[in-house]
Order: sequence, then structure tokens, then C-alpha cells
Amino acid sequence: MQRILEIKDLSINFYLREGVVHALTDVNFEVFENETLGVIGESGSGKSVTVQSILGILSQPPAKIVSGSIYFEPEKRNLELNSLPTYGDIYRNVRWNDISMIFQEPMSSFSPLHSIGDQISEALTLHRPELSEADVLNVCLGLLEKVGIPSPAIFFKRYPHEFSGGMRQRAMIAMALVCNPKILIADEPTTALDVTIEAQILELLEAIKSEFNMSMIYISHDLAVIGEISDRILVMYFGRVVESGLADEVIDNPLHPYTRALLKSIPKIDQPIESLEPIEGTIPSPFEVHTGCPFYSRCSERLGEICLNQKPANKTYNNGHTVSCHLHA
Ligand SMILES: Nc1ncnc2c1ncn2[C@@H]1O[C@H](COP(=O)(O)OP(=O)(O)OP(=O)(O)O)[C@@H](O)[C@H]1O
Ligand SMILES: [Mg+2]
Repeated sequence: MQRILEIKDLSINFYLREGVVHALTDVNFEVFENETLGVIGESGSGKSVTVQSILGILSQPPAKIVSGSIYFEPEKRNLELNSLPTYGDIYRNVRWNDISMIFQEPMSSFSPLHSIGDQISEALTLHRPELSEADVLNVCLGLLEKVGIPSPAIFFKRYPHEFSGGMRQRAMIAMALVCNPKILIADEPTTALDVTIEAQILELLEAIKSEFNMSMIYISHDLAVIGEISDRILVMYFGRVVESGLADEVIDNPLHPYTRALLKSIPKIDQPIESLEPIEGTIPSPFEVHTGCPFYSRCSERLGEICLNQKPANKTYNNGHTVSCHLHA
């Protein structure tokens, strides 16, 4: 399988008045063609910063990429996105091209002043100026239909506030698809929706991913969702990737104490709520700097001195399962 994206040794800081936030530290991972990579981790673990960095959203102060690279199609074009002169504009320019993103709150993607149809057609016209007005309308109606919007011709003329949350999310997915992206990034797209609608949106995303031959990066707090939708999983803690591997591997055979704690703290399908154990302690302050493992203070399996003072190395097993923990030295 070919890789569509490679993130190498990526570190990103925010330089704030209060101090420096080490939002990402030496992040390494890859995304393969046609796969869904699920990203999980507690709030503040760096999930959004990771995907925003791919789109160049964090190219401006106070954010700074202090080291590392983001490669697009490493085996084919090998574009180092973060060194392109247009990096800061990727979100605006390439958005409708190779990489698209959908957000938790579709309202932030749509302007309240224009109809959904106008906004989707504008995006399409920008991307494919050769299309006639009639063709643009046809493609847009087709996309709205594809994402399950009933009577597309009627909804086409409606404004974002006239859509329900689920319908707005569908419209945002339609807009993300206007240019046949190779990667669709979804940052907690269902958090604001109720569970029935969430299930429908997940089903839609999976169907669309296959039909458009895309890769997907799907961020969620919900392990049940991540387990269901992902081919592989990335577990993040305090700006680091602490574990990654095939979804079944990570869920059935978690290697990092943080992943194990996360699995016990988040409900799985059919699991009684009483059996859940919250992860002890709190996430360290984002301003903290750690010489050892940042999970040390909360880890029930810590070894002592070595975990406190030495940065754990990354270990990769034969099946591609990776872990960053002194238990796996
Ligand atoms: N624009 C910003 N300015 C300053 N700090 C930021 C900014 N965006 C993120 N951070 C910091 O970077 C770290 C990682 O944040 P990020 O938003 O990636 O977390 P997350 O895993 O997406 O969390 P959540 O699950 O709550 O969305 C946090 O410490 C956060 O406070
Ligand atoms: Mg986030």
C-alpha cells in the first residue's frame, strides 16, 4: 500500500505571553491510500493541531513549526507541504483539491449570508472554472443527493440556518467533496449531533470514502466510534503519538499504559457504565516541559527513575504496531 501522507518528527510550539506551549513534540505517522486513520486522545493532546498543521492553518504566529516535515504523496510527488511558499494558503487554495476538512461545527465553514447552494457552487467554480453554470448546478445537486440531502433542488436555495445540524453536516461533506480530494480530514464532525444522526453521518462518510477512493483522518474522543471507523489508530497524549497500529491490534492488544487506561475509561458498545475507570490525575499543564515520559505522573505501570528522566524511544513491532514507552524498550 502506498502512503498518501507522511508526518516526520513534527514539533509545533505556540509562543504565548504566558509561555511556550509545546503542542506537538516529535510526531511521526503516516496515512496510506484509501485507509481511515482514527486519532484518539484526551482534550488538549494535540489532535486538532496535528491536522491543522497539514492544512497550513498553523503557519502564522503564535504557532511555529519548530522542526519536522509534512510530506504529501511521499512515493509519488513527495511534496513537502510545510516548505511550499503557498503553505499558509493550503487551506484556502488546495482545500478544494487534494485535502479537504470538515469540522465539528459546520456553521464555521459556511457563511450565514449566502445560500448553501451558492457556497458549494462557488467552491466548485473556483476549482473547475471550465464548467458551465448548468454543469456546476448539476454537479452540486448530484453531490447534495449523494450525501443524502432530500430534494436537493429545494435545499440548494436554503441558508445554513435553515438546515438541521445533521443536514448542515451533510452539506459540509458535499462541499468538501467538490474537488475529489485525496484526503478527507474530519475533526470530531459528529460531536454536536445526537447518536442516531451521528451513526448516519459515520455511515455516509464510510460510503463516500470508498466511492471517492479517499483516505480519511478521523478525530474523535469516542473510542467506540474510532474502533468502528478506523483501519489504523493513532493514540495521542500531551502532543505525542504514544501508540499506533491496526485498529484491532490497538484495541485488543494495547501496548501503552495510556491506551490501556483510555480503553478502561471510555465506554465500549454494550459495556456497563459502572465498569468504567476514569484515568487518574489530570493532563499536565501545556506549559510543562518533561525530560522523561509525560504520562509518568498518571501511569499505573511506571518503572521509576527511567520513566521520570528519560524520553521513551519509539519501538515498532513487525506488524507495524508502534509504542513509545520504557516498558517496551
Ligand atoms: N491557537 C492556539 N493558540 C495557543 N495554543 C493552542 C492553540 N491551539 C491549540 N493550542 C494548544 O495546543 C495543545 C493541543 O491542542 P489541540 O487543540 O490540538 O488539542 P485536541 O487534542 O484537539 O483537544 P480537543 O479534544 O479538546 O479538541 C493544547 O495545549 C492547546 O491549548
Ligand atoms: Mg481538537
